[in-house]
Amino acid sequence: MLNDLKQQPADALLALIKLHNSDPRADKIDLGVGVYRTGDGETPVFAAIKAAEKKLAEEQESKAYLGPEGDMGFVEKLMPYVFGKANPTMDGRIEGMQTPGGTGSLRLALAMVKRAGYKRVIVGKPSWPNHNQICADLGLGVLEFNHATPDGTTDMDALRGAIASAEDGDAILLHGCCHNPTGIDYSNGEWDEIASLLASSKILPVLDLAYQGLGHGMEEDAYGLRRVLATVPEALICYSCDKNFGLYRDRVGALYAMVVDPADLARVMSNGHALARANWSQPPDHGAAAVRLVLEDEALTTQWLAELDQMRDRMREVRATLASAGKTGGVDLTPIGIQNGLFSIVPFTAEQVQEMRTKHGIYFAGSGRINVAGLTTGNIQKFIAAVADVTA
Ligand code: LMR
Repeated sequence: MLNDLKQQPADALLALIKLHNSDPRADKIDLGVGVYRTGDGETPVFAAIKAAEKKLAEEQESKAYLGPEGDMGFVEKLMPYVFGKANPTMDGRIEGMQTPGGTGSLRLALAMVKRAGYKRVIVGKPSWPNHNQICADLGLGVLEFNHATPDGTTDMDALRGAIASAEDGDAILLHGCCHNPTGIDYSNGEWDEIASLLASSKILPVLDLAYQGLGHGMEEDAYGLRRVLATVPEALICYSCDKNFGLYRDRVGALYAMVVDPADLARVMSNGHALARANWSQPPDHGAAAVRLVLEDEALTTQWLAELDQMRDRMREVRATLASAGKTGGVDLTPIGIQNGLFSIVPFTAEQVQEMRTKHGIYFAGSGRINVAGLTTGNIQKFIAAVADVTA
């Protein structure tokens, strides 16, 4: 029976890690999986997290189980950053639970969507490939709409059309900020419109906020999410701390549900707890506990936010340098300057992606998605020259 299982392709994005590692060239460039890198090409642990981890090692007295909801101190401390300091629970309508990374949160959210009787999820194209994989694995249908126009702006007409054509039993998955893979986000004005379109539909919003603080700032990057939550009756919110706390492999995330009546919250969330129990039982503690310690300590919070500012500023500089290269070979790098977060798409053909790897030792996803944080003062001119070479 096990022998009947069919060979599955390796995850294309994760396979890039090995491909890059096995290239012996000293000047190879990794623009693949989404991790932040400093100007020296390192992905260090945040100093604020290191300090919190030391504190944790000294002060943690037990590693006994916490339950399927994980560290609720972590979950609650994060809420003012996500939902706003003024009313972080939206009058008692929001509650959350800890999950293993943003993926764990999406898995639970979409499993709850399925359990609640929704049949289909409206997803932008392109989206993070795992969005569609999770939907497929859960047996949820997907309705795709075009996310961006060729000139590098959002395709609002396509989104309007998808919302207008939605049926009963549809949910919609939207990236809160720093769209993965395009870096093309909705403007505040567009979010205002999306919020009112969703308010007059029956679509359940599932909002994925995996890069808060990497676009324009912690508050700015929450604008769209907060606008939608202010207008709709119910929503699910998937959060990742992997990038904005640099905790990648520690897998730190949270799932929040917003309901109409606070009295329903415990019942709704009991489904999240039951699904977690059936999937991973309880989330790993360490990273979330470190985030909680950062957020409980004013000095560590200030330090973390300053480190996040530095990351964002560096990515803005990289984007500005790429944009100033303008028309490079057969592609225009200018739009990258106004895009956000770790990713942008350069419209390479499949052959050009291969040539960038084989001829120049530059690795990025087959979609042409580059992780701009992989570019440094030391390698950015090599990248620009290679783009000119393969696209000329
Ligand atoms: C990415 O898109 O590179 C990140 O979200 C990492 C991942 O798990 O795919």
